[in-house]
Amino acid sequence: MQNSEIVLIGGSGKTGGRIAAKLEELGLAVRKASRSTSPAFDWEDRSTWRSALKGATSAYVAFQPDLSVSWAAEAIGELCRIALECGLQHIVLLSGRGEEGARRSEEALKASGIDYTILRASWFCQNFSEGAFLEPLVAGRLELPAGDVREPFIDAGDIADAALAALTDIRHRNRLYELTGPRALTFREAVAEIAAASGRPIDYEQVSMADFAAGLSAVGTPGPVIALLEELFGQVLDGRNSEVMGGVTDILGHPARDFTDYARKTAATGIWRA
Ligand SMILES: NC(=O)c1ccc[n+]([C@@H]2O[C@H](COP(=O)([O-])OP(=O)(O)OC[C@H]3O[C@@H](n4cnc5c(N)ncnc54)[C@H](OP(=O)(O)O)[C@@H]3O)[C@@H](O)[C@H]2O)c1
Repeated sequence: MQNSEIVLIGGSGKTGGRIAAKLEELGLAVRKASRSTSPAFDWEDRSTWRSALKGATSAYVAFQPDLSVSWAAEAIGELCRIALECGLQHIVLLSGRGEEGARRSEEALKASGIDYTILRASWFCQNFSEGAFLEPLVAGRLELPAGDVREPFIDAGDIADAALAALTDIRHRNRLYELTGPRALTFREAVAEIAAASGRPIDYEQVSMADFAAGLSAVGTPGPVIALLEELFGQVLDGRNSEVMGGVTDILGHPARDFTDYARKTAATGIWRA
């Protein structure tokens, strides 16, 4: 890994930020790339892609807004083509489970000819603390259009560890790892764990998709974000992703972090306090 530079696309995000810290700890050369970096990288402005990739040997790619959008696979294919032209040898793609757009994006990466590692991840635990669910949890009530479906929430720390392994160990090239937590919980159970860890009551209520969308709209959530969440809750969360997979053990050699540990550690930071 000497004389190599790793570019992290989405390097300030939930996974990218953790990967950057781990790579820097090892003394490896890291370059974050997103709309706020210099040079900037914007998924919606392809003229920015080349300068962000130039000089790197490998890249971690967290797509925005989500690989389920219609143009994602084509964009991933084009990014890989430019990456190869810039001399990159390896791309680690953060993918999602049970989404047609994510599957097509994985295929575009594989077809590009560049060495790849695909990290196909379940829902992040950190959606409850670093995403859209944080505010309602602090307010004491989370309403989602999700009932009995179970999700094996994964800790973003495990994704970062897996990405670190993929970026630094050639044995993980041209492989796909399906990364999930060690057990599947309903959203109600996940919120109950967060409430217990925080030592305060937090309600969970299942609402209809229409009420969910109307609620988001009322607080000014942009239309495309609402459409994305409707797709995630309406189609992907139908039980297809409930199975626990062994990808974390396969790549890291130890089991995935449990949701209870995530809830305890995160509650201790005080982030869910009223
Ligand atoms: N959350 C989940 O449960 C889950 C599960 C499976 C897969 N995924 C996938 O994870 C990916 C997101 O990864 P993450 O959660 O680590 O990131 P994130 O926390 O959503 O972080 C967003 C990052 O993307 C950058 N960004 C936002 N819009 C951008 C744009 N138009 N062009 C370039 N950069 C942009 C932001 O920086 P700037 O503001 O500086 O641009 C920031 O670095 C998505 O592809 C999602 O599908 C998520």
